[in-house]
Amino acid sequence: VEETLVLIKPDGVARNLTGEILRRIEAKGYQLVDVKMLEAPRELLAAHYAEHEGKPFYEPLVEFMESGSIVALRVAGNRVIEGFRSLAGTTDPSTAAPGTIRGDLGRDWGLKVQQNLVHGSDSVESAERELALWFH
Ligand code: GTP
Ligand code: MG
Repeated sequence: VEETLVLIKPDGVARNLTGEILRRIEAKGYQLVDVKMLEAPRELLAAHYAEHEGKPFYEPLVEFMESGSIVALRVAGNRVIEGFRSLAGTTDPSTAAPGTIRGDLGRDWGLKVQQNLVHGSDSVESAERELALWFH
């Protein structure tokens, strides 16, 4: 069975949406395999977002991810990597489809930070790499 890394980002935790997001994951039929809450150190975030290093939104993104507690989830299910990204909706919550986590619960992006509630791994390779970073 496939596994993915889901992160409930600091905006999701601060807005008390952890339960609602977990509810959607469980209601879909995915299995919660492991859960932890943490304030992520910069080294972990730098490794996690290595592909975005140098992009204009990189620094504000990492600062946002350092700004509060994150809930990290190991989630299992049939085609869960693609399936969770579908459940999450597209990156920008302003235009994410209704029925998705970002579309229903996300707010418009501010000028500085990228607050879109959740992260989900985007491929089998990313999932393996990211799960090893966040759960070891
Ligand atoms: P994740 O599941 O969080 O990885 O989202 P994603 O795969 O939809 O987006 P991507 O991996 O391309 O970018 C990672 C994160 O960087 C996003 O979730 C946003 O928080 C932020 N981000 C991505 N692209 C942009 C952008 O063009 N502008 C800004 N301001 N932020 C962005
Ligand atoms: Mg991504």
